[in-house]
Amino acid sequence: MSIGNIRKVETSELDQFRDHLLRLDKPARRSRFAHSVSDSYIEKYAALPLEIETVIHGCFVDDVLRGVSELRPIGGAWGDMAEVAFSVEPELQGKGVATELMGRVIQSARNRCITFLTLTCLAENHKMQRIAKKFDAQLKFEYGEVTGQILPQKLPAGSVAGKLHGEEVRHLTTILDLDAPRSRAGGGGAAAGRTGKKVA
Ligand SMILES: CC(C)(COP(=O)(O)OP(=O)(O)OC[C@H]1O[C@@H](n2cnc3c(N)ncnc32)[C@H](O)[C@@H]1OP(=O)(O)O)[C@@H](O)C(=O)NCCC(=O)NCCS
Repeated sequence: MSIGNIRKVETSELDQFRDHLLRLDKPARRSRFAHSVSDSYIEKYAALPLEIETVIHGCFVDDVLRGVSELRPIGGAWGDMAEVAFSVEPELQGKGVATELMGRVIQSARNRCITFLTLTCLAENHKMQRIAKKFDAQLKFEYGEVTGQILPQKLPAGSVAGKLHGEEVRHLTTILDLDAPRSRAGGGGAAAGRTGKKVA
């Protein structure tokens, strides 16, 4: 399968967004949402863009949405911080789709004068971290609880995730500082985690 048509997903296409998320298998859902989620959770989650403004870019293959990025304001209204999340279906992975989507997200964030993007992923999610690093993201390790609430802790430089204090690393939060001179222009965790909106 080749890389598809990457463009914004319209509100009228939210059923495609839902169906894409529903096609994610159990491990992918856990990677995407940082915990296991049911079909009914996804059905409610996929309607969130109707309540919270969300910029979704998608990769369409034969008119079917197979990969997305989600950009959402933290706190529910556009300010200087937003969060991003990504999901790409297995058949399309490893072809640069998420990297391309990251570029689009960064451009959309810049257009909204957002200066910080946060991306939460599991510490074991090396692919996502690899993509973030391509965009000169500063990676910050944080310890959290199973609920997904993050309790930031400052770690010594060079710390290895998972080895400090014997605590389990739950999330890796990536901070993309869009004002930083080294951040790339031009192209862009579990989104909805900090929007103030909870999916039951
Ligand atoms: C994470 C995810 C979005 C990546 O999508 P993708 O389209 O396959 O990503 P890309 O092809 O753009 O880039 C993957 C990069 O990871 C690299 N990679 C692959 N396996 C890797 C591994 N085990 N360790 C480190 N890097 C790895 C690839 O080489 C590639 O980097 P490169 O372009 O420098 O070669 C996709 O796997 C996914 O949807 N996972 C489930 C949901 C999820 O984890 N979302 C992220 C949290 S919100």
